[in-house]
Amino acid sequence: MSQKKIASARITETSSKLLQELNNSLPFDKLLYREDIEGSRAHAYMLAEQGIISKEDYAQIEKGLVEIYEEIESGEFLLDGDDEDIHMAIEGRLTQKIGDAGKRLHTARSRNDQVALDFRLYVQKNTKKIANLLLQNIETLLRVASENSETLLPGMTHLQHAQPINFAYHLMAYASMFKRDYERFMSSYERNNYSPIGCAALAGTPHPINRKTTAERLGFKAPTLNCLDTVSDRDFALEILFNISTMMMHISRLSEELILWSASEFRFVQLSDKHATGSSIMPQKKNPDIPELLRGKTGRVNGNLVALLTVMKGLPLAYNKDMQEDKEGVFDSVKTALLSLEVLNEMIDEMSVNVEEMNRACMIGHLSATDLADYLVKEAGIPFRDAYHITGNVVNMAEEKGLDISELSFDDLKSIDERITKGVVELLDNRASMNARQSEGGTSSIRTQEQIVLLNSWLKSQR
Ligand code: ARG
Repeated sequence: MSQKKIASARITETSSKLLQELNNSLPFDKLLYREDIEGSRAHAYMLAEQGIISKEDYAQIEKGLVEIYEEIESGEFLLDGDDEDIHMAIEGRLTQKIGDAGKRLHTARSRNDQVALDFRLYVQKNTKKIANLLLQNIETLLRVASENSETLLPGMTHLQHAQPINFAYHLMAYASMFKRDYERFMSSYERNNYSPIGCAALAGTPHPINRKTTAERLGFKAPTLNCLDTVSDRDFALEILFNISTMMMHISRLSEELILWSASEFRFVQLSDKHATGSSIMPQKKNPDIPELLRGKTGRVNGNLVALLTVMKGLPLAYNKDMQEDKEGVFDSVKTALLSLEVLNEMIDEMSVNVEEMNRACMIGHLSATDLADYLVKEAGIPFRDAYHITGNVVNMAEEKGLDISELSFDDLKSIDERITKGVVELLDNRASMNARQSEGGTSSIRTQEQIVLLNSWLKSQR
């Protein structure tokens, strides 16, 4: 079988099979064929407009590229040859189709700015896709939250029952994280919305190109400032990797809670059968594989981030072939992020909330103990540290009686300290405790509903 030479005028010998295996990126960068064709069409348009190539050559290039796009989409052109990369494969096919005009496409361009362009277009496109899916997840969380602002839930610290909160409040914590994730993706989008094409190999080009034309045609705000930077840096790719890692860390924490909440010990939620699987040996089992996978996939996206940071850290300017290692991790993280967000949205949308069980769990752990201490400080003028100890005695009494402190009678309470007055009995009720937390951003039903309204109007402003 004839082996292709690596793209070069200087290399006369056919390259070794092993070199090709190490060097060729076509097996993975073929994913960039849309961006490559889009970029080449804009570049050719600009070359013709600037009089660098003839209108006739441009017409042929444009027609050829559109045909190649269709050939790839239909599976007629498989991109499985021994071309070095997607750029060489498409240029090669173009030249095969239209001859000399095809050979003019690479005027005033290098694969260094070409790959920087293709990859950036890919990252920008997928940044928007991920951001939109985040909005969808926020919308779903808001829907479930708006149905649950009265649903009591034990709020925890150290995974120990702490204070009563409501379920909507808990979900709104995640909605807030996803809002920041969304903003992080969008600010990366804005920061990186500059066109790399026309930077050529590293120093620009003597041809009278117009980078504003290509930037505009490709939907960028403007051309990048400095060509040496443009062909050398991959911080735009690192940004999407970091943004995905942070988002997946949030998804992973929510997944962990869904796993716990669907265990027999909690039974706070039930995942729909669609999102649970059985065991091959234990017929009674329903396993939360989906949230487990979302939690598990966080590992690989973190790996992709660290891998690219490591690839980039020692590279002198400008392009180095090490940088070909930038793509696979990003493709993998993007695919993981898109799928994870779609699955998460469906899972939250279809899970059922077990209000009774959440309520029952609030009767464990004396959740309103802090309210008693606060009450003793506020109403009886007792110093906090003393109030804290009195409350401790009340808790001990409840434990001895096998009750929650909210179930103790006024007489019980009074026997611990004379200064306790009747009003405290209502205060120790878990719902009253939750609703007492009316400070801004707090868990009371009213404050939670306020958060839902605010986030809802923010959501509308983004669409
Ligand atoms: N396949 C290469 C990459 O992904 C394209 C750029 C190659 N440039 C070069 N000068 N060899 O990075």
